[in-house]
Amino acid sequence: MLRDSFGRVATDLRVSLTDRCNLRCSYCMPPEGLDWLPRPELLSADEIVRLVAVGVGRLGVTEVRYTGGEPLLRRELTDIVARTAALRPRPRISLTTNGIGLVRLAAPLAEAGLDRVNVSLDTLEPETFRRLAHRDRLTDVLDGLASAGAAGLRPVKVNAVLMRGVNDREAVPLLRYCLERGYELRFIEQMPLDAQHGWRRENMVTAEEILARLREEFALTEADPAERGSAPAELFSIDGGPARVGVIGSVTRPFCGACDRVRLTADGQIRNCLFATEESDLRTAMRSGAGDDELAERWRAAVRTKKAGHGIDDRSFLQPSRPMSAIGG
Ligand code: 5AD
Ligand code: SF4
Repeated sequence: MLRDSFGRVATDLRVSLTDRCNLRCSYCMPPEGLDWLPRPELLSADEIVRLVAVGVGRLGVTEVRYTGGEPLLRRELTDIVARTAALRPRPRISLTTNGIGLVRLAAPLAEAGLDRVNVSLDTLEPETFRRLAHRDRLTDVLDGLASAGAAGLRPVKVNAVLMRGVNDREAVPLLRYCLERGYELRFIEQMPLDAQHGWRRENMVTAEEILARLREEFALTEADPAERGSAPAELFSIDGGPARVGVIGSVTRPFCGACDRVRLTADGQIRNCLFATEESDLRTAMRSGAGDDELAERWRAAVRTKKAGHGIDDRSFLQPSRPMSAIGG
């Protein structure tokens, strides 16, 4: 098992398949993009599947989430999903994506064994989308979402990050859009993870503000906290249910104490936290001939030193040197 010194057990593995993306969301990347990882440093599909197999077969990983960057840009994605679904015990398999490409890929991915998707959608206004993501792709995202539902990748979950003065007036329209289509919406507080270090606390729209805004239009009832488990979202049923909305107060209501996640970057580094300042290099070990036993032991050691919390509120807080796109959401 992947147990840390505080007794938390990591069972949820997030794997970044590429640091590249076809959008430039301002909370993630500068408009000009980043220096992408050089190809030889990226894990190959075989290497990814081997490490995921170690996690699932020896370390108690039960949930595998593929992320990026934008994971749909990785050509071997369908193959990676199919090989993940063939592992025993079979993990649950999900994907965090910006949705662009799902029109073409949702059905083959479902066929390969993908269980669920989370699609990022921060605005319903084409102009705001262009301003926020620096590309004119809103229609592709909305069509992608519809394709995910049609392919049976349900429940379709939607992630939204609100930014003051950019899209913060859209909390209610986003929720209405998702309710009408049966998508489960989660609002996520903006975290200091952008490559350009532009995060400012005062621009972050807090969980409390989001809930206050939603409560002007909907009756929200907090779902049983026991149901939350290690999930970061506080869930609320809407107007008596069954529809629900989630709010993830990553910064103001941290859930580090219940965290069950561990991350594998696109270049083969284990990170025990989004905000970790250290990584453990499984790629070099693997390429120098390490066997599965040794990889598992290095991985256990990397999780053991996980810190109690992200400390965004501490004076000594340091933003991780790698942006979200390289770490994997
Ligand atoms: N703060 C909060 N959420 C973020 N995401 C990306 N960067 C940030 C950030 N700085 C979200 C994306 C996507 C998921 C991977 O994480 O919107 O839904
Ligand atoms: Fe791409 Fe996701 Fe970053 Fe937006 S948040 S630029 S979709 S990786």
